[in-house]
Amino acid sequence: MKELKRQRVYDLLKGKDESLVDGEVNVKGWVRTKRGNKNIAFIALNDGSIIHNIQVVVDVQTFGNDEMLKKITTGACISVNGKLVESQGSGQNVEIQAIDIELYGTADAETYPLQKKGHSLEFLREIAHLRPRTNTFGAIFRMRHALAFAIHKFYNDKGFYYLHTPIITGSDAEGAGAMFRVTTLDLHNVPKTPEGKIDHEQDFFGKETNLTVSGQLEGELGALALSNIYTFGPTFRAENSNTTRHLAEFWMIEPEMAFYDINDNQDLAEDFLKYLIRYVLENCADDLEFLQNMYDKELIERLEFVTRNNFERLSYTAAIEILEKSGEKFEFPVKWGVDLQSEHERYLVEKHFKKPVILTDYPRDIKAFYMKQNDDGKTVRAMDVLFPKIGEIIGGSQREENYDKLIGRIKEMGIPEKDIWWYLETRKFGTAPHSGFGLGFERLMLFITGMGNIRDVIPFPRTPFNAEF
Ligand code: 4AD
Ligand code: MG
Repeated sequence: MKELKRQRVYDLLKGKDESLVDGEVNVKGWVRTKRGNKNIAFIALNDGSIIHNIQVVVDVQTFGNDEMLKKITTGACISVNGKLVESQGSGQNVEIQAIDIELYGTADAETYPLQKKGHSLEFLREIAHLRPRTNTFGAIFRMRHALAFAIHKFYNDKGFYYLHTPIITGSDAEGAGAMFRVTTLDLHNVPKTPEGKIDHEQDFFGKETNLTVSGQLEGELGALALSNIYTFGPTFRAENSNTTRHLAEFWMIEPEMAFYDINDNQDLAEDFLKYLIRYVLENCADDLEFLQNMYDKELIERLEFVTRNNFERLSYTAAIEILEKSGEKFEFPVKWGVDLQSEHERYLVEKHFKKPVILTDYPRDIKAFYMKQNDDGKTVRAMDVLFPKIGEIIGGSQREENYDKLIGRIKEMGIPEKDIWWYLETRKFGTAPHSGFGLGFERLMLFITGMGNIRDVIPFPRTPFNAEF
């Protein structure tokens, strides 16, 4: 077969290079469908660069090679040389009249799991190794990429520095959730101390280590030197929560800013979310339209609504009053001091305010040790951003920068100082007011794609009893 530069289907369908029309081009990809008769065959070819397929037309009589044509079935991978022509049929601008085809890989029609269309999302989760080849997951993973890129662009344009915080951590101070242990000890023959405890001095790092639940504590070290930083990496939580919004491994974006107070923090969070939604509306229109048609008729309208309206800002205390007066029967009763459940968050967002909400000043007893204490002695300068259909999408706070107050809280909560002496030193040496937050990347993906289950917005979800792929 003649050597030609491969063209992305995206570029051909978007007409990136007009001069290619009527010339010979090469495309490579996976067959979505083949139909036709003994004279003509139509192959819908997809290379994952775009939701749409390019149509390859084969004049069966002149092409010959019946044997190979027969093997080109749904799922097969082929390379096609052919003439790029203005399309006769409706729906696309160009198609390819095949001159030569190389069959890279067949896909046996009897056993290829994606032979038919219309599989359920549940079934597709069981074949996570193949589901990227469906329209739905192609769209989702392209959007995931676009969002990741937009996140870096947003912070880079604002002069924030991307700080790589460690994935293996020696501290369990955050208290954000149960942790996964990291060890090289022989589990069949665990070394013990004379007191009968596991002897971590013999472990790889000479101490107990875990996968991180958050990059924040290290992020603060960066902010108190570079002023504005962000992290963007995987985080791990070993809770056994089998919900549509929890993963054991998820990605989090955590900006941390010196000299920001809680109001600056809220402004940044709102700007950030609106920027990302706008970015996707402008750059992922084809994929969004596909998801809207397939799964969620109000998707684009909902996204546009969020970019156009200010988020509602109020205190936890004011929110509790609203919930108490709502007359709504909640599964978990509300009163001042309780942690809000997703049913409460969604009531506020979807029924009461009908737009995103930022709650601040939560009771100190339900929040982490590092949050700045308010003068009332009861609340801390926490902030949660709540979204329609999702509930909490961002959690953050202004940080306690006062050494004595921070130590006081650590002692009250029984957090071992020896684990975070390095964190405490930032409050001894040149402490500064500062704030930050964490955005759950997959929660954002849920909102932006309109999907209902967090397992469907990450390529290889990690949940209890699920780490096959
Ligand atoms: O509210 P969280 O626990 O906050 C922190 O970890 C802080 N250290 C962040 C900071 O201030 N730098 O988690 C932040 C966000 C949540 O709002 C949610 O969107 C997401 O992370 N998240 C999860 N996403 C998927 N699966 C889970 N198990 C999640 N737990 C939290
Ligand atoms: Mg939280």
